[in-house]
Amino acid sequence: MAAFEFRNGVLHAENVPLPLIAEEVGTPVYVYSLAALLDNARAFRDGLSELDNPHIAFAVKANPNLSVLRALGREGFGADVVSGGELARAIAAGIAPEDVVFSGVGKTHAELLQALETGIGQFNLESEEEGYELALLARRHGFIANCALRVNPDVDARTHAKISTGKSENKFGVPIDRAGALYSALAAEDGLNMRGVAVHIGSQLSELEPLETAFGKVGKLIGELREAGYAVTHADLGGGLGVPYREGETFPTAAEYGAMVARVTKGWDAQLMFEPGRFIAADAGVLLTRTIRTKRSSNGPPFVVVDAAMNDLARPAMYGAWHDFDAVEPTGERCTAHIVGPICETGDTFAMDRECDALQAGDLAVFRTAGAYGATMASSYNSRGFVAEVLVNDDKFAIVAERIEASAIMDAEQVPDWLA
Ligand code: LLP
Repeated sequence: MAAFEFRNGVLHAENVPLPLIAEEVGTPVYVYSLAALLDNARAFRDGLSELDNPHIAFAVKANPNLSVLRALGREGFGADVVSGGELARAIAAGIAPEDVVFSGVGKTHAELLQALETGIGQFNLESEEEGYELALLARRHGFIANCALRVNPDVDARTHAKISTGKSENKFGVPIDRAGALYSALAAEDGLNMRGVAVHIGSQLSELEPLETAFGKVGKLIGELREAGYAVTHADLGGGLGVPYREGETFPTAAEYGAMVARVTKGWDAQLMFEPGRFIAADAGVLLTRTIRTKRSSNGPPFVVVDAAMNDLARPAMYGAWHDFDAVEPTGERCTAHIVGPICETGDTFAMDRECDALQAGDLAVFRTAGAYGATMASSYNSRGFVAEVLVNDDKFAIVAERIEASAIMDAEQVPDWLA
């Protein structure tokens, strides 16, 4: 079933008409489809069916909503976290600590300790310095930390520069040509159980070839490590599989990805791990918004000013990303327009010269494919609140994140006595 479909001229999320959600919850609001989320999760897992018992950890950063994590945890997914906050969410959502992988270049002392005390499954070490710090902490507090060494394979993922992570100039992982020496140094540390290698070269990949190249390099490294006497039992292949944002775009399927992985990792004899984010969550969500007004421009198409802004959905402003934009109750009339939010900078533009449904003040519309890297990247810029989130399940829906009003954010601030 397509999660967001028109019925009798009205866009629905599963069996809930979006105007009902707008009325009850207000706008802007993210609306997620549980069915779509689970379909994507199952499609990813099915794509890996040739592999022996892969470990799939959802990249929490893509959508850290507790209910989303809960739903994926119930499907057997673990969590890939990058902060103490994400770790706390994964655990609160009921994901078993041993199914949590901790990535990130800047894990703090406090976060490393939190993760040790939680008993997470694996630390993906991004530097030798981090490894020594973790070893010290583990020894001091009587833990053994399972670790993989994240390598930087110097492969161009051919994606947006801001979300590319596997080139040598990127901050992630250790250079693959030094990985053998670093692995052996870290393996000698009491407190660490070096058990594998991790790689993640970027997000929104439209081709499998860069992934294949990176995995090939990881396979070679695993062989070298084994020759040097290390039992490499785990290989974490990260996330990165892209999704279409624009009608008509085609991307590798989970089955094609899985077939490539099966081919490249044949004979590795290691537990394979994955960290998909966008593939699972992106098309399971829309950002529902209401048109505030339309405004004539001096010499071009009109501006459609909607009540969502770059603080609610940052991707267009940040990466020039495209999100399909549709009226919730289209009249059939089409137009060309600039779609903008209310924030006071020109960057608060969702689309220029977009061919779209004609909209009047008060009309509802959606930005599609907003379930990943949407609400999670929201801010309160321009003293706007934090956007609400709703999860739909068939004909039911629930608010899964309350709107945080601008006043609540102001309440957390104080003026010191000496300014009184
Ligand atoms: N694993 C690691 C270590 C990562 O850094 C990421 C994403 C993932 C897994 C998940 O990648 P995915 O399967 O979602 O591609 N805010 C950007 C995306 C940033 C991705 C950061 N890392 C956007 O809106 O496009």
